[in-house]
Amino acid sequence: MLPNQVYPVVWNHDRVLLIDQNRLPSEYTLVEISRCDDMAHAIKTMIVRGAPAIGVAAAYGMYLGAREIEATNRDQFLAKLERVAEQLRSTRPTAVNLFWAIEQMLKTARHTIGSLDHLKQALLDAAQRIQQADLETCRSIGDHGLAALPPGKLRLLTHCNAGALATAGYGTALGVVRSTWNAGRLERLYADETRPRLQGARLTAWECAQEGIPVTVITDSMAAHCMQRGMIDAVVVGADRIAANGDAANKIGTYSVALIAKAHNIPFFVAAPVSTIDFNIASGKDIPIEERDASEVYQVGETMLCPPGVEYYNPAFDVTPAELITAIVTEFGAFPPERIQAELSPIS
Ligand code: MRU
Repeated sequence: MLPNQVYPVVWNHDRVLLIDQNRLPSEYTLVEISRCDDMAHAIKTMIVRGAPAIGVAAAYGMYLGAREIEATNRDQFLAKLERVAEQLRSTRPTAVNLFWAIEQMLKTARHTIGSLDHLKQALLDAAQRIQQADLETCRSIGDHGLAALPPGKLRLLTHCNAGALATAGYGTALGVVRSTWNAGRLERLYADETRPRLQGARLTAWECAQEGIPVTVITDSMAAHCMQRGMIDAVVVGADRIAANGDAANKIGTYSVALIAKAHNIPFFVAAPVSTIDFNIASGKDIPIEERDASEVYQVGETMLCPPGVEYYNPAFDVTPAELITAIVTEFGAFPPERIQAELSPIS
């Protein structure tokens, strides 16, 4: 069964259902998660992925962990909840939304008074609020992104998947694409395949196909050619963590796309909620970059791509310097990167 609207994380009675993003597009499967350990594993293995979506998943993970805690008093409960938080924080290092959501959940626990049962219920409510807020945030990002794009019918390019699958629903970069499509302004989306995990080819293309959004998948190495041939009007990507100076970490390969866009005078937009901005980090060089298993580079399915005896390097993200970014599109509007500190840190 295929869904009309894509929600990667769903609360269902007493458990979470996750779309298994590792199996898309060949299989649409839901994974049931009832324990924090399983949620941590799902985030680590990228059953659920994308910065806001792992924030939402971690928030539910906090509740599931809280539900398992046996404590005789509040202090004991809070100490054990801190261990749950630690487990979830250790899953993926780059997307700040994960840490942001865990912190929101800890604040809820610290500020809720009453019985431990009441506190656990407050944590479930908080996770649901985080999820609902992200959905609304994505719709606002979509609208602000549409307003910031060049006029006329547009051919957009995106990298990785910053869509409904990567958020509570609707998407950030793909939210801008959706809003452009709904406004009758999208001629076509070009989706970079996004080696090594192919989120563009597998996930962005799948989401577009669900809704009839015209999409052309290209290999990462084709983006320069397409821009040189005048096939792209603007680039829209997501982000996993944005530093206070506007440098933005996103899926590996984003930096190359930004450099190519600059060379061809094509506007380059980063679409992300304010919770993706880490005002504690001055510049992109301090953003932790996740390194994943080498098998993602040397293997596709069962097929070995490389000869034995060679070395591998597999950074999952790179940092696009602020000077390559035309604007950062948030739920509060689109801002040149150098303005985010002044405009957005007071409301973050
Ligand atoms: O490794 P992933 O698939 O979690 O990386 C996802 C991305 O880089 C997205 O572009 C980013 O998280 C923004 S999602 C709205």
